[in-house]
Amino acid sequence: MSGLMAVFCSFCNAWGQGQIEPGEVWTDHAGRPINAHGGGVLWHEGRYYWYGENRPASGFVTEVGVEVYSSPDLVHWTDEGVALAVAETPGSPIERGCIMERPKVAYNQLTGKFVMLFHLELKGQGYAAARVGFAEADSPVGPFRFIRSLRPNAGKWPADFSRRDIRRAKRLKEADYPEWWTPEWRKAVAEGLLLARDVPGGQMSRDMTVFVDDDGKAYHIFAAEENLTLNIAELTDDYQDYTGRFVRVAPGGQNEAPTIFKRDGTYWMITSGCTGWTPNEARMFRASSVWGPWEQLPSPFRGEEAGTSFRTQGTYVLKVKGAEEGFVFMADRWNPKSLQDSRYVWLPLEFNEDGMPELHWKDRWSPAECFDTTD
Ligand code: DGJ
Repeated sequence: MSGLMAVFCSFCNAWGQGQIEPGEVWTDHAGRPINAHGGGVLWHEGRYYWYGENRPASGFVTEVGVEVYSSPDLVHWTDEGVALAVAETPGSPIERGCIMERPKVAYNQLTGKFVMLFHLELKGQGYAAARVGFAEADSPVGPFRFIRSLRPNAGKWPADFSRRDIRRAKRLKEADYPEWWTPEWRKAVAEGLLLARDVPGGQMSRDMTVFVDDDGKAYHIFAAEENLTLNIAELTDDYQDYTGRFVRVAPGGQNEAPTIFKRDGTYWMITSGCTGWTPNEARMFRASSVWGPWEQLPSPFRGEEAGTSFRTQGTYVLKVKGAEEGFVFMADRWNPKSLQDSRYVWLPLEFNEDGMPELHWKDRWSPAECFDTTD
């Protein structure tokens, strides 16, 4: 959004027809509260598709699956049903009672398939499994077919690790660092203490997003190494596997909830800290290549409650179709007493004179009036 658009946006509320009201209860075409948490939005052939966690009124495990809604304008949403359903078969990785989080869908131009990646925890194992699930569909509303789950990049080392780095990492043993957060432990984590531990079986994969670059290449960005380190991993051309090329971002920095976007050739990541369902102050990173180096910057949140990111945690940055510089930051305001009643906080990203992203609270705003959506 240009400076001019940012100014315009603050006035557009008054005339908005379809408005987004961050933090309020959002309902679908049938008047039911939208149940699509930790989600992401795909634009395909003139419609937006919002995929998110269908959460129960109480409890923390997945009873239904991934829900999908569609909209022409980001304001009016039709419930298209369950895109990826839990399995009833005992022992299935996606058996009812597993945990499916943060689903993201990308359309693959080469195969014509819609590919979903999501954070998967196996039934009865809490958050120990730390896997990524893959599913595919022929239609944006599904049904998605579960393909498999795994821990990414088994047997691979980061692209920026030299042979010497690998030898050094292999010598690190967790038993030598029983106490966390000491300077020695921090150094060992940065040098690959947990990375090396997980190379044989693949890296842990929890909070995540998917980013498709202008050249069609897709990347899976996820919290690895016990949520201490982000990984950016390149997907194969069909988006259903890994090429084996990956980098680590902020080793030991405890970043969760990664969101990413690209503007004027610069890549931006907005993440959260690691405090469970409790909100914390967001972090921001910038790079001129997806492979880094990623420079850490202050949170983009401004004003009252910026310290808790307006009591939210990010989940996705949506590039508004047709808008030259329109981006929506999508976040969840979690309610762990009833995850189903967690609220959605979507705000237009604004850019200051230095081109730095900023997020300012708005009680309501209209995407049609804030963004130039003419294609
Ligand atoms: C924070 C994560 O961002 C959420 O997606 C979820 O995994 C919770 N932690 C679980 O405590």
